Amino acid sequence: MKNIVILISGRGSNMEAIVRAQIPGARIAAVISNRPDAGGLDFAVRQGIAARVVDHKAYPAREAFDAALAEEIDAHSPDLVVLAGFMRVLTDAFVSRYAGRLINIHPSLLPSFPGLHTHRRALEAGVRVHGTTVHFVTPTLDCGPVVIQAVVPVLADDDEDSLSARVLVQEHRIYPQAVRWFVEGRLQLTAAGGVRVKDETAGLDGWTVPPVEA
Ligand code: GRF
Repeated sequence: MKNIVILISGRGSNMEAIVRAQIPGARIAAVISNRPDAGGLDFAVRQGIAARVVDHKAYPAREAFDAALAEEIDAHSPDLVVLAGFMRVLTDAFVSRYAGRLINIHPSLLPSFPGLHTHRRALEAGVRVHGTTVHFVTPTLDCGPVVIQAVVPVLADDDEDSLSARVLVQEHRIYPQAVRWFVEGRLQLTAAGGVRVKDETAGLDGWTVPPVEA
């Protein structure tokens, strides 16, 4: 059984999608929020999952917060740490500690639109397609090896709300998929900085590039 620790800051709908996926071989060991009022904590409690708060406001510096967060995470012996709408920039030390077992979901087709307000920026840029990306976390924000992406069209009458809702549907599909692959031991980081997924039916050695979801 692989222990999964999920970090949230708000409503936690991606966390909920991962929990509801009931991935064989995965145990959601804890949900940790940096905000005491995160809506997702209630869902975790109702599911009988350990729900914890490490309030960033209680710490004088990023390093101290990250150290306290790592202590709480490690209490749950994580095989995988999942950032699901976790809105804190993490220190290099934290990212290194969980190298290869720390993933994030970002609401854009990276490397386009890292950072905040991705849907607004996609509309302003006039792109015809937008989407979401699950990636391994590296010290550079929103910039690690891509595990899986999903593409959605940008429609003529879209506003931020309609576009973000369309993307969110895909987030809830691809994040559980990425966690499932990890738990099944089917993800491999390549020396070139990419990700391959094990697929017995593909390629010579059974490793392939993850498919695009659309
Ligand atoms: C999602 O759009 C996610 O991609 C981004 O923050 C949002 C979190 O939503 N990082 P939720 O808390 O999972 O509902």
